[in-house]
Amino acid sequence: MKTDRRELTARYLVALRAHLDKKSPGNGDSAQGLGRAVLAGGLVTLDLARMHEHAMVVLASSFGDPQTRTDMIKRKGFFFTQALIPLEVAQRATQEANWHLQQRNQTLRVHTAALARGNRRLEREVIRRKTGEATIIKGKEQYRELFLNSQIMQKKLHQLTRQIIFAQEEERKEISRELHDEVVQTLVGINVELAALGKGTSVSLYALKAKIARTQRLVENSVNEVHRFARELRPAVLDDLGLIPALHAYSKSLAARKKIKIQMTAFGGVEALGATKRTVLFRVAQEALTNVARHAQATQIKMSISEISGAIRMEINDNGKSFEVKKALLAKNPKRLGLLGMKERVEMVGGSLTIESSPGHGTTVCAEIPFTHEKTKK
Ligand SMILES: Nc1ncnc2c1ncn2[C@@H]1O[C@H](COP(=O)(O)OP(=O)(O)OP(=O)(O)O)[C@@H](O)[C@H]1O
Ligand SMILES: [Mg+2]
Repeated sequence: MKTDRRELTARYLVALRAHLDKKSPGNGDSAQGLGRAVLAGGLVTLDLARMHEHAMVVLASSFGDPQTRTDMIKRKGFFFTQALIPLEVAQRATQEANWHLQQRNQTLRVHTAALARGNRRLEREVIRRKTGEATIIKGKEQYRELFLNSQIMQKKLHQLTRQIIFAQEEERKEISRELHDEVVQTLVGINVELAALGKGTSVSLYALKAKIARTQRLVENSVNEVHRFARELRPAVLDDLGLIPALHAYSKSLAARKKIKIQMTAFGGVEALGATKRTVLFRVAQEALTNVARHAQATQIKMSISEISGAIRMEINDNGKSFEVKKALLAKNPKRLGLLGMKERVEMVGGSLTIESSPGHGTTVCAEIPFTHEKTKK
């Protein structure tokens, strides 16, 4: 670069001198050629000014009279201006290019900002969609679970309905059989006795009295049986006198028929329970006592009704043989509804039922029903 500058400085001096030596001012071609060479050499306006200054110093003494000096200065000025033109043009082109570049940069910045905004929007949208998809997947899973649960419930409901229908039918059969075996047979017996009485012409007074006494006993039996049916179906005493008298009456009758000792202690406040809850307790006791009489071969039953915090607890314990409670509850035997029915009834009124059975300790059925000192009986 230094060599170039030196060489160009020398070329400048030679060219300027040649320019000054010419008679006419010329068109400045050689000066512009030098300007282009300076530009091509990577030099700037300041370098050209230095070359010009150098040439001025060298040529200063060449021109004696003031007129010629002034003339020469003007021509040197013209030469310098001409040499500057390519540099000036190049500079303007650079400035213009810079301006365009700046414009382009500005446009680029605007585009980049718009792109960044677009990207942020896209990211937000992606997050929103992902969240949406996750919610949909979760919703689908929940829906599937609900659907499966509802199918299970439906099956259970079908099974329970069938069991109830079956149980109702069995109960009707049982009532019909017992009515036929116990009541009708007795009534037929009475009828036979009465028919014999009607036909008999020469019956002694003694024989007549004996026949009437027999017929009376048959009538009494029938009356007792009909009472028992009525009590088992729905004891009027439960509605008229309350739970404790109803349970007393029921256990007294069962104890007499099945030869089992039944002890009962009861918290009197239980009568403040609503009618539905009292009926539930009666049905649970009825089923538990019937089960003991039917299956346990027990000699003794203890029944207690007490108040615990926020609930009434009824416990029925026997000293008979034990059984596997879980197995009995899970057994899909539509004929056995007693234990399931007790549980259903108690849970229906917001309570809970537990059954424990172990060898040597017999079976304990425990029902707990919410109790908050209800003022009026429902
Ligand atoms: N106190 C008990 N002692 C011994 N075994 C019992 C007792 N209670 C119930 N079980 C056993 O549990 C089984 C189921 O009882 P559950 O009351 O459900 O049916 P069930 O009495 O046979 O028929 P039902 O539907 O007429 O009540 C009984 O068959 C019996 O084997
Ligand atoms: Mg039973």
